[in-house]
Amino acid sequence: MEISTTLSDTPVSEARLSEILVDPGFGVHFTDHMFTVEWTPEKGWHDARITPYGPLVLDPATAVLHYAQETFEGMKAYRHADGSVHLFRPEANAERMIRSSQRLALPELPVDDFLAAVEALVKVDARWVPEAQGEKSLYLRPFMFASEKFLGVRPSQHVTFMVIASPAGSYFKGGLKPVSLWLTEDYTRAGRGGMGAAKTGGNYASSLVAQQEATANGCDQVVFLDAQDGLYVEELGGMNMYFVFRDGSIVTPATGTILEGITRSSIIALAEQLGHEVTERRFAIDEWRSGIASGDIVEIFACGTAAVVSPVGELRSAAGTTAAPASTELTMKIRSALVDVQFGRAEDTNGWLRQVL
Ligand code: PLP
Ligand code: COI
Repeated sequence: MEISTTLSDTPVSEARLSEILVDPGFGVHFTDHMFTVEWTPEKGWHDARITPYGPLVLDPATAVLHYAQETFEGMKAYRHADGSVHLFRPEANAERMIRSSQRLALPELPVDDFLAAVEALVKVDARWVPEAQGEKSLYLRPFMFASEKFLGVRPSQHVTFMVIASPAGSYFKGGLKPVSLWLTEDYTRAGRGGMGAAKTGGNYASSLVAQQEATANGCDQVVFLDAQDGLYVEELGGMNMYFVFRDGSIVTPATGTILEGITRSSIIALAEQLGHEVTERRFAIDEWRSGIASGDIVEIFACGTAAVVSPVGELRSAAGTTAAPASTELTMKIRSALVDVQFGRAEDTNGWLRQVL
């Protein structure tokens, strides 16, 4: 893929950038450039370019605005103490985007082109990758959407893939403290044959009322149960879950209707390397309640790229409150094992990092 580059005439000043990087928040500031490539059936992927960051001009009939045919990814670039910049398992994001795109009838962007796009943007906006202190990073948001001007319901014949980047600090406003969860019994996230395993905007749109319900009930995040029986824990709006038992074993809900997190699979590997048995299986909401009551479940945590690893506190629902687990010890140990690799403080024995600069 040939990528042309047009640099911004009005990049953010060094003084303003330093101010932003002190406390970047999540998803509020964007870098000086963006990556774009277009697809049509005749030409395939073409016209790859880095241009100054800015608004898109879209026809009101652009298909994505009506039928939500789109997919996206979330990943981060990490600066190490020696100044080098690394991506964490970006091939896994590229492969997941291919699976999501297959589900959404979008064209597949080859892994090498996905990597070239992300790396080109990180290189041109390298000064936006924060120093490692405080676990800040540059969040990367690749996304693909139906850009054809057409109101018929069929796969778009013009598709646009873009990458934008945003410096990121803590995803949760309060920093690292246990997140309280609201169990929604009215809304589900994904049914059999649906698109729960795809990273696509519609899944997040459908989660918003449930998240509003969580907020109205004083909780940080919402937890979804399976759509078929309403008995099994799936995941949070944007994170996968783990249950730690007294004997050190760990259970994480099985896949199929959940989004298979890259953090999720990394944590399974790290926990096994730390000597813990990890089982992927259906996990009933009743097992959560009884496990806390009996003390069999000693820790619960959730993970995702944006939110990293976060201890889970109380579970609230219409039926009442389940207390927070007793400990966060293993959660914090696994969290450190993960972020130490990402920030180059521990040896990357699994070969997960890809150096960009
Ligand atoms: N589940 C959902 C619904 C998500 O949006 C995310 C975030 O990307 C995850 C799980 C965790 O996935 P990953 O670890 O790849 O970021
Ligand atoms: C991520 O963790 O990258 C996500 O996409 C979760 C959320 C910001 C949608």
